[in-house]
Amino acid sequence: MDMNDIDAAVTVRVNGLRRQFDSKEGKVIALDGVDMQVRKGEVFGVLGPNGAGKTTMIRILSTLLLPSSGKAEVMGFDVGKEPEKIRAVINMASGAERAGYDFITARGNLWFFSQLYGIPSEEAHKRINELSKMLGLQNYLDRKFYALSTGYKQRVTLVRAFINDPKVVFLDEPTIGLDVMTALSIREYILKQAKDHGRTILLATHNMAEVDAICNRVAIIDKGKILACDTPAALKRTLGASSLVLDVSPVPTLGALEPLGKLDGVKGYTSSIDEERGLSRIQVVVEGDAAGQSVVEAIRKMGMTVMSNWRQQATLEEVFVALVGRGFREREHETS
Ligand SMILES: Nc1ncnc2c1ncn2[C@@H]1O[C@H](COP(=O)(O)OP(=O)(O)OP(=O)(O)O)[C@@H](O)[C@H]1O
Ligand SMILES: [Mg+2]
Repeated sequence: MDMNDIDAAVTVRVNGLRRQFDSKEGKVIALDGVDMQVRKGEVFGVLGPNGAGKTTMIRILSTLLLPSSGKAEVMGFDVGKEPEKIRAVINMASGAERAGYDFITARGNLWFFSQLYGIPSEEAHKRINELSKMLGLQNYLDRKFYALSTGYKQRVTLVRAFINDPKVVFLDEPTIGLDVMTALSIREYILKQAKDHGRTILLATHNMAEVDAICNRVAIIDKGKILACDTPAALKRTLGASSLVLDVSPVPTLGALEPLGKLDGVKGYTSSIDEERGLSRIQVVVEGDAAGQSVVEAIRKMGMTVMSNWRQQATLEEVFVALVGRGFREREHETS
């Protein structure tokens, strides 16, 4: 394969991309010099905590928002100069919206969108049926939109996202708020769209398991910057550290665990709360056994009891913790 072939396979290209918002409260830098390339047929994850810049990136690439500076191209077209050419070959959907016309059926909604794209009638019906079948939506197509559950509304959104036979699809949190089984079937569908049709899927999410399950590559983003970009397996491998998981009681206040981050051999930590059991689960990325021991001691000194603790293979969660020193949860509670 020569360089031209490699270039031809690049469907999304971003260089030095910056986006700033000026509001009454001051300026926010949502994207701070992002470089990224996505290839044909890839399911590419953009993973980061709340406020990282994921949605801003999707809005720019789908030509809903202009960059402040830098370059962004989709299928070789510049987002600022040729947005209409991009719109003809992409689609996008957000899991937060689940929008539809309440008083027409699911099929009616999809039909309406297919006609906005000018898809011939017979072809449109065929696509609606085929895509719906893949998502297990076929028996719900003739129900009014308002009567569908959240999961089925989201399936309608995901049929709509592929109705125009797009080359590149931007999905913003496509499984947010859905039950595990629904999320699994949606992930399978997304993967199939990339594999069978060579579509490029750019998936913004804060769900690590989702990235692990279906993304060929992932860019980890925090505060508008890409911290790492590779396959999930390679990111976990290069981390070269494992994590120590501890169930402790009582639940520490946010911030109480900060001293852990300063211990020798500790790359970072994150925690979550198990409300039912009244426990907090703390995950600490450590290098070597000595650090693990000092973590246990430090937690005891803070007045908590360690109910159980074990070592765990690195996941993407640990990769983020090692890069930032904090997990998503701590990041999202920071004030600055
Ligand atoms: N229109 C806007 N005006 C002002 N600030 C904005 C605007 N849109 C986004 N921001 C800010 O830009 C930053 C990035 O926001 P963005 O929505 O891209 O993050 P995100 O990664 O999608 O987060 P989430 O996981 O919560 O969806 C945040 O600090 C946000 O408050
Ligand atoms: Mg978002």
